[in-house]
Amino acid sequence: MKRQPPEKSSYDKVVFSIEEIEALLAPPEMPKPPFEPAYIEVKNREGETHTLVIREAKKEEAPLLIEFMKKFVDIDHDFYDIVGARVLAELLGWYRNRLKDPYTLVGLIDGELVGFANGRLMNKDINISLHTMAFKRGFKIGAIMYYAKAQYAFDVLGNQEWWATYESYNGFKRWGIGMAQPSYPWPDYQHELGGAKIYYITKEYWDTVVKNYLLDYIGTDLKRPVPEDLLKKNETLKVPDSPAV
Ligand SMILES: CC(C)(COP(=O)(O)OP(=O)(O)OC[C@H]1O[C@@H](n2cnc3c(N)ncnc32)[C@H](O)[C@@H]1OP(=O)(O)O)[C@@H](O)C(=O)NCCC(=O)NCCS
Repeated sequence: MKRQPPEKSSYDKVVFSIEEIEALLAPPEMPKPPFEPAYIEVKNREGETHTLVIREAKKEEAPLLIEFMKKFVDIDHDFYDIVGARVLAELLGWYRNRLKDPYTLVGLIDGELVGFANGRLMNKDINISLHTMAFKRGFKIGAIMYYAKAQYAFDVLGNQEWWATYESYNGFKRWGIGMAQPSYPWPDYQHELGGAKIYYITKEYWDTVVKNYLLDYIGTDLKRPVPEDLLKKNETLKVPDSPAV
């Protein structure tokens, strides 16, 4: 749009650097204490055991995660396609600074990616739970990743509410229904993932009920600090060749 200036001007162009534009498009991050890496023994029904390490993903690992997540977009069972497509966009949003205050956790066994959980801060009180995925089935890895991110939200970041929603029956069964998460009136309140219902956990509900429900399902709490040699084993992220889901 163009309009005649109402005053004489010493210059007829104002040039902005892209750094100045970037500062407007990607506002400053809220201060967030880091997620302290944790570990836990996992076991399946056959008694196979592994040590799962959960740590924050590093920004330089984003391209590897993005390439892996592209493979889920064509899997049309159990809502892997839509969860995969949304996680792909969230990873790109994190990598390209187009997602407000994200945190990205990876679950690793001997460095291999077996779990994923992410979320973001709407503000200092409200934590938006984005997605959780397990890439190795039958070890409750998804539930452990969900616990790790909720614990981070309430016990480390000091958030007061957790806003979740569910695409898949699997997620809704274990978390939405399993935790008896109440929902806000709909359509007045809508979750950013597709305008679905917001299922929420308050800090009080976390402290008194949900934390124990999850610990009971998982069997034991996350352990910290992670021994140096275990951290080292899980320093370099490897992704599976193809999704085994
Ligand atoms: C939802 C999800 C993260 C849960 O992961 P999880 O806690 O590791 O649980 P699993 O997927 O291994 O198992 C789920 C259930 O199937 C059972 N199961 C065990 N072995 C299984 C196997 N080989 N294949 C399928 N299910 C299995 C589990 O015992 C569990 O039952 P329970 O809930 O009654 O205990 C995972 O299913 C997933 O990544 N789904 C796709 C992404 C998704 O839907 N994310 C949530 C978005 S709302």
